Amino acid sequence: MSEEIQADNQFDRRSFMGGALGAAAGIGAAGLAAPGTVLAQAAAPTTTGIEARYAPPAAAKPQLFRAELDVRDCEVEGKIPADLNGNFYRTGPDAQYPLAPGNIPFDGEGHVSLFSIANGRVDFKSRFVRNERYVAQDKAGKILFPMYRNPLLNDPSVRGLSRGTHNTHIINHRNMLLALKEDSPPAAMDLWTLETLDGVYTFDGQLPRTQPFTAHPKVDSESGNLVAFGYEAKGHGSDDVNVYEITPQGKKVWDAWVKVPYVGMLHDFAVTQKYVVLYVIPLAFDDAQMKRGGIHWSWYSGQPTYFGFFRRGGDGSDVKWIKGPERSATHVMGCFDDGKKLYVDVEMSLSNPFPFMPMRDGSKWDPVRGASRITRLSVDLSQKTPKEYGIETLYQNFLGALPRQDDRYNTVPYKIGFLPCPDPDPKDPAKRPSSCYARMDHSTRKTQVYRAPDGATLAEACFAPRSKTAPEGSGYLMGVASYARENGRCDLVILDAEHLDQGPVATVKLPTRVAGQIHGWWVPSWQLPPKKA
Ligand SMILES: [Fe+2]
Repeated sequence: MSEEIQADNQFDRRSFMGGALGAAAGIGAAGLAAPGTVLAQAAAPTTTGIEARYAPPAAAKPQLFRAELDVRDCEVEGKIPADLNGNFYRTGPDAQYPLAPGNIPFDGEGHVSLFSIANGRVDFKSRFVRNERYVAQDKAGKILFPMYRNPLLNDPSVRGLSRGTHNTHIINHRNMLLALKEDSPPAAMDLWTLETLDGVYTFDGQLPRTQPFTAHPKVDSESGNLVAFGYEAKGHGSDDVNVYEITPQGKKVWDAWVKVPYVGMLHDFAVTQKYVVLYVIPLAFDDAQMKRGGIHWSWYSGQPTYFGFFRRGGDGSDVKWIKGPERSATHVMGCFDDGKKLYVDVEMSLSNPFPFMPMRDGSKWDPVRGASRITRLSVDLSQKTPKEYGIETLYQNFLGALPRQDDRYNTVPYKIGFLPCPDPDPKDPAKRPSSCYARMDHSTRKTQVYRAPDGATLAEACFAPRSKTAPEGSGYLMGVASYARENGRCDLVILDAEHLDQGPVATVKLPTRVAGQIHGWWVPSWQLPPKKA
């Protein structure tokens, strides 16, 4: 085994992003169809051998990290732009104790990092979320929630405690940082110190203590309201989804209930000014697997997807579910409706994108069918009972997951998206392709790419606008790069979002590896409360 492959494999084993990163980085079908091909009609995918090299191993076992860090006035290569001031937060799973056999990397405890950027200086800080689960396990000195979202195996001592890890996403709300995990309520943290203020944040009692809260709430582009939902909302395995809207001041102003056709992972959703869209995929609740001591989900091959939509402001009784082919879609890049059609852009794969999520039929995980592309789903709003939804691949050569947009456009028409991806045009197919960030302009279908140096792996990117009123996509794209050859040491790479191909304008050098990341969030200086002395 060459030194390079060895280093890559070592890093893969250490990666806490598992399938999310695997899907982001994975190379998929080599027999590429013409742009716009409906995936359902695409030719059977073939492999070139690159897929296996780039996909994470199915049995990835993350090593413990657990170091809470403070680095003041970080070393910077290049120059932090004068108009980039604010806080970049990120969170990911960092197991407090070694994971139990059979558990998956998604079940590590939430470890939140902060790059605070002000007047050219960058300070770094990271802290675990000290939620009920973390505190109880710390006191016991062992794991008390041994299996991902399987309450049957919980230690009896945790009865009544929240199982939330808060390892998936973070968002600012009412001058707090909310750390999120979709099976539980948020945890509230201090925006500057990362001190955990409330391990079970219920919006002052407006949501039940047991209310699940999505990791992907949307900020309404006009009102600033937080639109969110919880699935399995009436208990473990329930088919009830609760959707709600909360003002920037914290008052719940809307609440609706819908039932899903079957209980599958509802990781993300789409919200326009008029509609809410839910998308049900065959990563399905598996009661039998849990009774055997396994995790919450398995991929149920052959099951359909369902595109469901209903009016915002209603009671949910108008929900329409449209059946579609077996697919996976985990994250939304953006969405819009033009009065005639409703469009949702998602990362989409033919099958299970996560190598560590079991296949219910016992088959082997397939990195080709698990590789995602940005795909536009659409529904004709003029039809009273639409029978099908459209599926259009937008950028055939770009594989990847964890898409992002300029978050000022969460609920209104947008045209700019960003995607971490392997090199869409690798010079040497026999070599591991570079990790890249792509900018996609849907109005022209033109793309721009930043290629990270060999051996670097890029985490999800986050966009920071140049100013409150800057045009869409005008600002900076930032994300953490990890270097396998340096034991996972990390940099924060900052790029001009309109000129990705010109390389970083600044690179914040950290002296060490840092906790892994699933998602990140930018809070501009104009939204931050004053820093405490
Ligand atoms: Fe996510």
